[in-house]
Amino acid sequence: MNSKSENIHPFNHLLPRESKEQLLNQCAKVLWFTGLSGSGKSTLAKGLEVELHAKGFFSVVMDGDNVRTGINNNLGFSDEDRKENIRRIAEVAKLYLQNGVIVICCFVSPTEEIRNLARIIIGGKDFLEIYINTSVSECEKRDVKGLYAKARKGEINDFTGVNAPFEIPAKPDLEVLTKGKSIEECLNELLGFCIPIVNFKA
Ligand code: ADX
Repeated sequence: MNSKSENIHPFNHLLPRESKEQLLNQCAKVLWFTGLSGSGKSTLAKGLEVELHAKGFFSVVMDGDNVRTGINNNLGFSDEDRKENIRRIAEVAKLYLQNGVIVICCFVSPTEEIRNLARIIIGGKDFLEIYINTSVSECEKRDVKGLYAKARKGEINDFTGVNAPFEIPAKPDLEVLTKGKSIEECLNELLGFCIPIVNFKA
């Protein structure tokens, strides 16, 4: 144990996770969306949140918009910073998880090492890796934020898919191939996968 944490005592839960899951009538899980910038992770996550809400499930979405502008606004895109980004996100996701919440995390999380870090922090049985598979050329065609064009011009270093690597997940729990599909079709795939997993089991 390091010196900073040796006098800190683990929080003693009077209300266990199971009681909160029972109250919310759901099984808490972390749905970890990985994929390139512009692959559709956040759009699909927000759509999934709405659909889950309509079916009575309580979830939260964490993505670059609400994390890199706040708790992680001191981090960039070096390997070290990406690791720290994911470490903090995984720790926050774990806190939600322990309180019965379904957490939808959308982060590029470009390497197996980084995704494994998240898996280890969260715990393998609660971590579901969902690969939003959209090719670089497709993301580049959409280029909603204009970042691919900037990266091609050399204005952004270490841009995933252009001048920084993205390692394709070897064994994702679910792969959503977005090309040629509507958002609704992708959402149906996601819902079909998620609902049986987050349904409360007494
Ligand atoms: S991660 O690699 O650390 O997981 P994260 O998902 O938080 O990345 O942030 C990625 C988002 O930041 C992208 O969708 C894009 O909008 C923006 N971004 C800015 N610079 C970069 C970069 N060099 N590489 C990837 N994404 C970048």
